[in-house]
Amino acid sequence: MKFKTTPYHHDLLKDTDRLSVFYRAIEEYDGRTDLAYDLGCGSGVLSYFLSSKFKEIISLEVERKAYVCAKENLADFDNIQVVNSDVLDYEFTKKADLIVCEMLDTALIDEEEVPVLDYAKRFLKPDGKIIPEAIVNAAELVNMQRDNVHWDEGARYEILSDEIIYSKFDLLDDIDPNFKAILKFKAKKDALVNGLKITTYTILNDNIIAGPLPMLNPPLLIPLEEKEIKVNDFINVEIKYIMGKGIESIETKIVR
Ligand SMILES: C[S@@+](CC[C@H](N)C(=O)[O-])C[C@H]1O[C@@H](n2cnc3c(N)ncnc32)[C@H](O)[C@@H]1O
Repeated sequence: MKFKTTPYHHDLLKDTDRLSVFYRAIEEYDGRTDLAYDLGCGSGVLSYFLSSKFKEIISLEVERKAYVCAKENLADFDNIQVVNSDVLDYEFTKKADLIVCEMLDTALIDEEEVPVLDYAKRFLKPDGKIIPEAIVNAAELVNMQRDNVHWDEGARYEILSDEIIYSKFDLLDDIDPNFKAILKFKAKKDALVNGLKITTYTILNDNIIAGPLPMLNPPLLIPLEEKEIKVNDFINVEIKYIMGKGIESIETKIVR
């Protein structure tokens, strides 16, 4: 099927690994199939994947141009209703068996996955499911060239510690968007540390975990105060951010 899209949603469609993990997770879904919500449907591609499985799909998209594309792309599907609305303003009237919500970004900081699901989960049946199911966040110490928060899109950096897993969120659980943790690293070499690299792994279902992909959670590089470190030193870093409030909410500091 050919999709009419905005340039951003076209880039999302070109990331075929991203599409394939969502396609497989929807194919492997084995719950009831009366109603699914596709939250932030964009071009409508995930609603299209849902269309052969579900009796009814309600697809919400806040951005007007993307909504117009999705409406046209999905016009031939009698079981899909595309609505131009912010999820947080939508008056849900029915409980769904499945929510698909791809408002993902690294550590769920910059997009609205957490606030949107916090609201929309009330309209999920007790045995309902969410795709993706969970996310896992990992961090490494780095020496990086740039001095601002940025996604890993080719800028150079050197890894200075092992990767530590520092948080896991099951999206069916209540999630406090205010995140704070002390990350404990062991230095792998003598070097100047000046940054953190955050990598997010997306658990689509029990069988499928996606690492970073070009349009799904590229690693995030975050500046840290400079510190000379020696091999086998232990370095503790406090990190704070608010999920859904953007990368401007990130704060880091080296602590004892
Ligand atoms: C990462 S894109 C995914 C698009 C599409 N589901 C896909 O997989 O190709 C996230 C989409 O969510 C939409 N979005 C973000 N916040 C939203 C909100 N509060 N309500 C409805 N749509 C939202 C964005 O406009 C964007 O189209």
